[in-house]
Amino acid sequence: MSQTLLKAKAISHSFDTLLFEGVNLSLYERQSAAIVGRSGSGKSTLLHICSTFIEPKEGSVSLFGKELYTQSTSAIEEIRRYEIGIIFQFHYLFKGMSAMENVEIATILARETIDPALLEKLEITDVMAQKIGELSGGQQQRVSIARVLSKKPRIIFADEPTGNLDNETATLVMDVLMDYIQNNDAALMLVTHDEQMAERCDICYRLEEKSLKEIV
Ligand SMILES: Nc1ncnc2c1ncn2[C@@H]1O[C@H](COP(=O)(O)OP(=O)(O)OP(=O)(O)O)[C@@H](O)[C@H]1O
Ligand SMILES: [Mg+2]
Repeated sequence: MSQTLLKAKAISHSFDTLLFEGVNLSLYERQSAAIVGRSGSGKSTLLHICSTFIEPKEGSVSLFGKELYTQSTSAIEEIRRYEIGIIFQFHYLFKGMSAMENVEIATILARETIDPALLEKLEITDVMAQKIGELSGGQQQRVSIARVLSKKPRIIFADEPTGNLDNETATLVMDVLMDYIQNNDAALMLVTHDEQMAERCDICYRLEEKSLKEIV
């Protein structure tokens, strides 16, 4: 039986107005789920709720079988650092450092090592010595994906990871993410506008009219 890695139950959230309510979502080992929806529907917010950054107004999130937001701040930070990986919509790399230094920092913090095969698969081996500022947007995006996967997370939360990429490179990134979850008993929660990428996931949801609906 595969283990449940993420369980979100009856989640509601609002900032100024209600964004969504009654959201239920589970992720098992080796499972991928895509979330699509219009800009402003709350996809990034839902991803941040599931990935330790925002406590929802109502409902509960469990990661690895343990209720998340009732834990201490330091326990939540440990989970964020060691157990999950977040690929943000806007990548946060250290601009003055090389691509390799950026990946090294993450692996040292997570007590892991860099996998040269991963850099090879992402087609960034040849640019690793360059400073981030000298890389194209798509290369930076792939460096940030390498940095996240090098931590060996059990759940990957990816917000538009293929947003800046041409179709061929986007397909390559999806291949890497899908291989990663299969080989590491991990799971993927993917927010995307790209229907082709969403269709590659095991389940596909749409966030609309303030609720999350499974689409087929
Ligand atoms: N920290 C915040 N404080 C106040 N309002 C916020 C905050 N974060 C998001 N919002 C609002 O919540 C709504 C949903 O934002 P969110 O970023 O989740 O949308 P999204 O579906 O990811 O959109 P996009 O596809 O454009 O990335 C927006 O109206 C946004 O202005
Ligand atoms: Mg967003």
